[in-house]
Amino acid sequence: MRLLKSHELRKLYLDFFRGKGHAIIPSASLIPENDPTVLFTTAGMHPLVPYLMGEKHPEGVRLADVQKCIRTGDIDEVGDSSHCTFFEMLGNWSLGDYFKKESIAYSWEFLTSEEWLGIDKDKLYFTCFAGDADAPQDTYSHDRWVEMGVDPSHIFYLDKKHNWWGPAGITGPCGPDTEIFYDTGKPKCCPQCDPSCSCGKYLEIWNNVFMEYNKKADGTFEPLAQQNVDTGMGLDRTIATLQGVESVYDTDAFTGIIAAIEQLSGKSFKADPETTRAFRIVADHIRCSTFILGDHRGVTPSNVDQGYILRRLIRRAIRFAMQLGMPEDSLRTVAEAVIAQYGEFYPELEANREKITSELSKEENRFQKALRNGTKEFERIKNTFPEGKIDGETAFHLYDTFGFPIEFTCELAAENGLTVDMEGFNAAFEAHQKKSQAGAEQRFKGGLADTSVETARLHTATHLLQAALRKVLNDEKISQRGSNITAERLRFDFSFERKMTKEELAAVEALVNEWIQAKAPISWEEMTVDEAREQGAVGLFGDKYGERVKVYTMGEFSKEICGGPHAENTGDLGTFKIKKEEASSAGVRRIKAVLEY
Ligand code: ALA
Repeated sequence: MRLLKSHELRKLYLDFFRGKGHAIIPSASLIPENDPTVLFTTAGMHPLVPYLMGEKHPEGVRLADVQKCIRTGDIDEVGDSSHCTFFEMLGNWSLGDYFKKESIAYSWEFLTSEEWLGIDKDKLYFTCFAGDADAPQDTYSHDRWVEMGVDPSHIFYLDKKHNWWGPAGITGPCGPDTEIFYDTGKPKCCPQCDPSCSCGKYLEIWNNVFMEYNKKADGTFEPLAQQNVDTGMGLDRTIATLQGVESVYDTDAFTGIIAAIEQLSGKSFKADPETTRAFRIVADHIRCSTFILGDHRGVTPSNVDQGYILRRLIRRAIRFAMQLGMPEDSLRTVAEAVIAQYGEFYPELEANREKITSELSKEENRFQKALRNGTKEFERIKNTFPEGKIDGETAFHLYDTFGFPIEFTCELAAENGLTVDMEGFNAAFEAHQKKSQAGAEQRFKGGLADTSVETARLHTATHLLQAALRKVLNDEKISQRGSNITAERLRFDFSFERKMTKEELAAVEALVNEWIQAKAPISWEEMTVDEAREQGAVGLFGDKYGERVKVYTMGEFSKEICGGPHAENTGDLGTFKIKKEEASSAGVRRIKAVLEY
């Protein structure tokens, strides 16, 4: 087996699939376009969903890419050996072209051929979908692996929890997958130990998803118009696995970044577990922040949405940089090391170097000021707790108003012989998060020029329009691709392959007007995404599991995840008139409409 560096694996992968007739497409932005339900691109499939659903991709039916991804659900876990917020996903795609047979043959050749990775086939293990009421057992994939030369004792059938991918959100493309594992050679943890076990003996390196179903809002599955392949191989993880190192932080991707932190802190990466953890946090968070700031749709630190996550990453990095004794304004030097490592493959980082480093410095200044003010405030109030316990509201006030991290409050408290009511702090924190999530949803439902009565009415009409399009075109796959609403008119972009006929447009218009005349009340309710899905709400794909959203219901005809503002009754809307239907981009149509009174 070849011991590869990360840039070598990236290149080999793309070369291999280019040789198999795949067009190499650039990574999409980390900030999803036209998708209000996720803050960041979390998997290679996200930006390609319209094409998995049947839209034509300009580059053809065979694609390969390296997609920048961010998963921030586990920010607080970063520091251990496996978690990272940023990663690169290698993927090859068939959009209704080849399916299981070729996909499996390609994976096998790339992994085992001496010309490519040359992995010993006895070290590879495989899982296939076991089958259930929704889809049959994937014996076909099993048999293809055997055909390649895999010993059947290396293949395991697992259930949906393990061998099924997606959809990314409530509805969308999904299907069974076959996963490829590398045996690290560690002893089995127990006699039953197999690739479903998390003991670390078998590490997943590649996932081939056979997307042939569309998950509908009612939770059932229907065949997609085309059978697709979506594969994902995490670049760093695969390198770490093949190199047999403890963690991705020990791969060449991090060598320069860790060296920069060692130089700035004067400490050694592996000095002790606490130091190693702090190094990993600074390295991961600054790598991720550099990519967010350097993205062509990049954002800057703020208190909302992506900017809020960025602020959290930078401030957490600063805290651990301080713990390591790094001098002030060190983070820009760490970012320089990130750019040195990645700038060649991601030229946007080079192009945005100045923005990246200056934003890091500015955020550090703001944070240092917050720390000074927070410390002053702490000194002012520290003698006002007769019981010796700082209540949760006060700790939250320090955090929320002064940006003072709770860990700092705890430290100062301990130095002053006080304790902190952490339960109270957590309760105040969660209550605040709920409020700001509802707010984020509102901001994200984007495309609204203002919140005037007229705009709210046109926004309401947009919901009815989407429901009517689905009904008239008899197509549940129609999904919103964008909207832009002023007090004068609405503009709605949606996925659909062809020009609509005059008759279809007339039918949509009539249906919307019928629903307006029904004078249906409009109500909303806050719930989790899972609950919204159970109720059959329409929503854009995304992975907001566990987060709370607002679901708007209009009579019997529309139920949609949205943030408002809306009219109170469909009867307030006047007469709906479609002014224009035209192409917006490949596979996306645009309707302009007005309300007349
Ligand atoms: N979409 C699949 C994954 O991310 C390939 O694992």
